[in-house]
Amino acid sequence: MNSRRIALVTGGNRGIGLQLVREFLERGFEVVLSCRNLEQGREATQQWGSLLKRLNFLELDVADSKQVVQAAAQFGERFECLDVLVNNAGILLDASESILSVSEEVIEQTIDTNSLGPLRVTKSFLPYLRKSQAARVINVSSLAGQLSTMGNWAPAYSISKSTLNAVTCLLSNELSPEGISVNAVSPGWIKTEMGGEGATGTLEEGADTILWLATEASPDLTGQFLRDRERTDW
Ligand SMILES: NC(=O)c1ccc[n+]([C@@H]2O[C@H](COP(=O)([O-])OP(=O)(O)OC[C@H]3O[C@@H](n4cnc5c(N)ncnc54)[C@H](OP(=O)(O)O)[C@@H]3O)[C@@H](O)[C@H]2O)c1
Repeated sequence: MNSRRIALVTGGNRGIGLQLVREFLERGFEVVLSCRNLEQGREATQQWGSLLKRLNFLELDVADSKQVVQAAAQFGERFECLDVLVNNAGILLDASESILSVSEEVIEQTIDTNSLGPLRVTKSFLPYLRKSQAARVINVSSLAGQLSTMGNWAPAYSISKSTLNAVTCLLSNELSPEGISVNAVSPGWIKTEMGGEGATGTLEEGADTILWLATEASPDLTGQFLRDRERTDW
């Protein structure tokens, strides 16, 4: 039996996901780095020394329903329970499009990864989340999905993150009676491949609210959209 808290991060091979993997390890968690290409995950972490003792790898493409189910089964061969699931994996394909020009294919692909991905991963890992004393699901969303401030940037991405926020509310309503908290987090504008060179936030800043939720926030905090450790509008 493993008494350490266990965290799983999707899209853990780079960007905010990789930062989260490292910081969860530094906080004493047993961590599952999940990603599409395991080689990239191993390469990104190979210099991490003793932290590697608590690091595990899992192949997981959140857009592949079958593989998500298989990955959950593989997880179950090693672990009985999951305490923190961070649905971090995401794509941005339409930064220079408008709602009138973006193709339906791009909208569908973006929703499939950014909104349905977190839903299918949460459902497949639910048996393990249910075994935790205080499980948390953290969906990495974006202010691009905030309806009250929506502009016209990246329409497919914005729709996908608004949808992810709705998925967050619905999952929280369903799961909070069982003691599983579900929240969405805006990490800020962070310097990663997606955020680009002009981004003003560091990886540490991008990971902060997510780690705070996982380690310090009250388990009663559920069904919220958070930014800088505070509630923000949907
Ligand atoms: N950076 C920002 O300014 C910012 C702002 C708001 C929200 N966010 C959100 O923060 C999260 C992390 O973004 P980031 O900035 O770290 O971006 P990033 O550096 O582009 O990393 C994206 C990660 O998602 C993974 N991914 C994409 N599609 C996947 C799939 N189908 N299955 C599994 N993994 C997949 C990528 O894996 P591969 O290497 O295999 O492609 C990569 O690990 C995203 O949800 C993003 O929307 C970021």
